[in-house]
Amino acid sequence: MAVGDVELKDNRFATLRCVVCRDLKSRLVPSDDEHPPTSVDCSVCKHTFWSQTKVLEIMPPDAIHAGWSQDVYDNDWMADIYEKWTRSIGTFLLAGLRYKDEYDYLRQHLHAAYDAPILDLCCATGPHSRVLAQEYGAGRVMGLDLSPNMLQKGARLAEEQQLDDILWIRGNALKLPFGNETLGAINCFGAVHLFPDPAAGLRESGRVLIPGGTYTAFVAVEHSNFVMRRLQLLGSPLFGVKTFNRKTLEGWLKDAGMKLSDYSVFGPAAMFTAIRLAQ
Ligand SMILES: C[S@@+](CC[C@H](N)C(=O)[O-])C[C@H]1O[C@@H](n2cnc3c(N)ncnc32)[C@H](O)[C@@H]1O
Ligand SMILES: [Zn+2]
Repeated sequence: MAVGDVELKDNRFATLRCVVCRDLKSRLVPSDDEHPPTSVDCSVCKHTFWSQTKVLEIMPPDAIHAGWSQDVYDNDWMADIYEKWTRSIGTFLLAGLRYKDEYDYLRQHLHAAYDAPILDLCCATGPHSRVLAQEYGAGRVMGLDLSPNMLQKGARLAEEQQLDDILWIRGNALKLPFGNETLGAINCFGAVHLFPDPAAGLRESGRVLIPGGTYTAFVAVEHSNFVMRRLQLLGSPLFGVKTFNRKTLEGWLKDAGMKLSDYSVFGPAAMFTAIRLAQ
């Protein structure tokens, strides 16, 4: 596959688009054969995006503030305790789920269109990125998150499992650095409910998914129990979590060009799968 004069060995780079000029005809051309490349250059506006500590930074220029919970994720200590403690214990206490249940769900529901790259969106330290890399090959997987600390820790954990080829990108889920219909599948666990505008986040993912590819997610949902729902309404704003129900989700997915194919509820959380429809 070629981008301009450059022959790409890795088709993940053919999916990338510039988040500065936002020209969908733009291509981000790697400066060298390092992994990740030292930098990538926009073929249209010539902006250079650099890699730092194994993470390719493709951040949109406009500042974002994703709330205080994001400030917590942006700490080194959180990156260190995240997978083993915060995430695993939190999910078990709230939803009764273990990592194994999530990985089984992914193996059962994720379908990647053609040979196209797979994105683990809002990957944090990449527990699901590594499972996807084991299933589909690390050279096909990208993990994207806002937090540099989480991504750097993710790169180290992947190296320990000889999954060095995963491509780690610092970016924003609401302004993805990918072209229309370029990705085979997107997995987004534990994050849609943190977006300032979840519907916009789903539309942005729908834009970059190839028809037939799946969007798998783990989200906070409205609890069916009256008392638990009251508690949720009190606690959710505090933690910056937006809860929604199946009907609302189906409407958002429809606007994003996707259709719900599975919706499995676990108390205040749900794992769901949607398929990107042909327009
Ligand atoms: C609860 S963690 C979930 C991480 C991982 N997918 C998992 O299931 O363990 C939420 C992650 O979403 C990231 N995040 C939140 N908003 C984001 C955005 N707009 N773009 C990219 N990442 C975002 C945070 O940095 C954090 O690492
Ligand atoms: Zn550009």
